[in-house]
Amino acid sequence: MNSIISPSFYILSALFLLFALQTTLSSPIQQTLIQCLSQHSIPSSTIYTPNNSSFSSVLVSRAQNPRFVEPTVPKPELIFTPLSESHVQAAVICSKEFGIHLRVRSGGHDFEGVSYVSIIETPFIVLDLTNLRSISVNINDNSAWVQVGATLGELYYRIAEKSNVHGFPAGICPTVGVGGHITGGGYGILMRKYGLAADNVIDARIVDVNGRVLDREAMGEDLFWAIRGSGGGSFGVILSWKIKPVAVPDTVTVFTVTKILEQGDTKLLYRWQQVADKLDENLLIRVLMQVTNTSTTSERIVTTSYQGVFLGACWIGSLLDSNGFPVNTSLELLLQRNTTSASFKGKADFVREPIPEFALEELHKRLLEEDIPLIVWTPYGGMMSKITEYETPFPHRKGTVFKFHYFTNWLDGDKNVPKHISWIRSLYNYMTPYVSKFPRGAYVNYRDLDLGIKKKGNTSVIQASVWGVKYYKDNFKRLVKVKTEVDISRQLFQT
Ligand SMILES: Cc1cc2nc3c(=O)[nH]c(=O)nc-3n(C[C@H](O)[C@H](O)[C@H](O)COP(=O)(O)OP(=O)(O)OC[C@H]3O[C@@H](n4cnc5c(N)ncnc54)[C@H](O)[C@@H]3O)c2cc1C
Ligand SMILES: *[C@@H]1O[C@H](CO)[C@@H](O)[C@H](O)[C@H]1NC(C)=O
Ligand SMILES: *[C@@H]1O[C@H](CO)[C@@H](O)[C@H](O)[C@H]1NC(C)=O
Ligand SMILES: *[C@@H]1O[C@H](CO)[C@@H](O)[C@H](O)[C@H]1NC(C)=O
Ligand SMILES: *[C@@H]1O[C@H](CO)[C@@H](O)[C@H](O)[C@H]1NC(C)=O
Ligand SMILES: *[C@@H]1O[C@H](CO)[C@@H](O)[C@H](O)[C@H]1NC(C)=O
Ligand SMILES: *[C@@H]1O[C@H](CO)[C@@H](O)[C@H](O)[C@H]1NC(C)=O
Repeated sequence: MNSIISPSFYILSALFLLFALQTTLSSPIQQTLIQCLSQHSIPSSTIYTPNNSSFSSVLVSRAQNPRFVEPTVPKPELIFTPLSESHVQAAVICSKEFGIHLRVRSGGHDFEGVSYVSIIETPFIVLDLTNLRSISVNINDNSAWVQVGATLGELYYRIAEKSNVHGFPAGICPTVGVGGHITGGGYGILMRKYGLAADNVIDARIVDVNGRVLDREAMGEDLFWAIRGSGGGSFGVILSWKIKPVAVPDTVTVFTVTKILEQGDTKLLYRWQQVADKLDENLLIRVLMQVTNTSTTSERIVTTSYQGVFLGACWIGSLLDSNGFPVNTSLELLLQRNTTSASFKGKADFVREPIPEFALEELHKRLLEEDIPLIVWTPYGGMMSKITEYETPFPHRKGTVFKFHYFTNWLDGDKNVPKHISWIRSLYNYMTPYVSKFPRGAYVNYRDLDLGIKKKGNTSVIQASVWGVKYYKDNFKRLVKVKTEVDISRQLFQT
């Protein structure tokens, strides 16, 4: 971890984390916590300390970005894997009582690993919700309760089991966790027709700072608003979501057209920017821009793949297609919980007007300078423009033509990590004039700890307001207000 990253953790937590440090820990921490948990009848088989031989494998099993489990990165004092809602309540109560930080992990896909790493607030424990993964789909009243430890693939699979004309507008990658994903917004191939996953939530169960379980009615509309798009970890531990499946056709047409992006020929890409957000909302065409070797000369070239989904054939097949599998692949694939072996750093931008061709040329050049880069262009418009900026904390709606997702990957043992990180930071700087401004938008599900940093002379200061308005625009103020109210009022009830 480089040192620039750590201070923003501090602000993130100072302002937004649920559990403030209250007392100095009596040592050893593990013993104290284990004792507290066992007083709440927690079975010891759900508690892993570094003494347990499976501690590392449990930690790594849901760490989607391997760079955050390297030996130099701080490790939790213990990992607790609850089997029931009451176990989660006990974890909140015990960690609060002993002033130990709690990191909550559902699917472990956080870009910066914050669901299993804490740099500044140490010691910390990880509450891993992977065992809370039941899904009950009720097609008759068009609803489903899904626990946070389920993956998107499991959710899609369970819906498809009940109906081939229902789906859910969430993310593309099946291993992403329902817990972090939905609370951060959650977009996928149905977004132009139905909006984000968070736009299709009708109820939720959450454990608050005092360990109480609240549903929508008990938590109130402000808190219910806040958890649908603000990103995880700030307002309590979400246990489950009640979602509204949406109608999908039983057939979907998919296509992928891959073009070599020749130097000096960016016309098609330029043209895509002019139409992508204006197409019929049943059609989504995203662009994957990457570097590959030509088969003949092994020369590195940039390709653009125009990946289209038309809701008019089996939507679940289109999901497989978007993940690079043949549409007739067995659906059981959606149940796999693979972790990747590649580490990555990602960043996002929202684009409001087409990027000029000379800048596309520069992008082309920059891609060739990096080992395993990827830029995903995701079109907006359709339903995304119809939902107002204030409906949920996620504000990037009308006027957004498309979203950029910049990515760089590297494999285990790569010695050039600083080079990869500077490549993506430099690309991000270069794009400044062409993307949204005042604020430059960001997506909390693509968490980027660079964002809070403000340069003053040759020192860097971290300001919560900097990343806050990037992720939420004007909604940041309301989130801070809700956060303050929730923490204070719940404490007042405690007598
Ligand atoms: C390979 C890959 C593909 C992706 N594809 C998409 C995509 O198609 N669309 C999209 O929108 N996003 C996508 N994402 C981003 C993804 O939505 C976010 O990383 C999301 O936060 C992951 O949720 P998680 O539960 O897996 O992650 P976690 O790492 O477990 O959690 C993420 C954050 O939420 C908090 N959190 C987790 N569970 C809870 C809970 N129960 N209560 C409160 N807070 C909680 C964590 O503390 C952390 O802050 C992708 C990410 C990866 C790595
Ligand atoms: C971890 O070790 C402790 C102490 O030896 C034991 O009580 C507990 O059951 C172990 N946990 C697991 C998950 O095996
Ligand atoms: C872990 O092991 C050490 C030595 O083997 C022991 O002193 C310590 O109490 C153990 N911790 C727990 C939580 O069991
Ligand atoms: C591309 O070719 C280079 C050598 O020219 C090689 O090192 C690299 O592994 C190749 N990449 C892929 C994806 O085949
Ligand atoms: C999928 O289709 C391809 C060609 O259309 C065929 O070769 C393959 O066997 C099919 N796979 C399955 C699992 O049906
Ligand atoms: C998961 O890993 C297995 C074995 O490596 C592989 O065959 C499968 O395609 C992977 N699944 C996904 C969804 O990536
Ligand atoms: C800025 O950097 C210079 C040279 O590294 C150093 O001498 C100076 O003290 C720094 N200023 C501040 C405010 O840190």
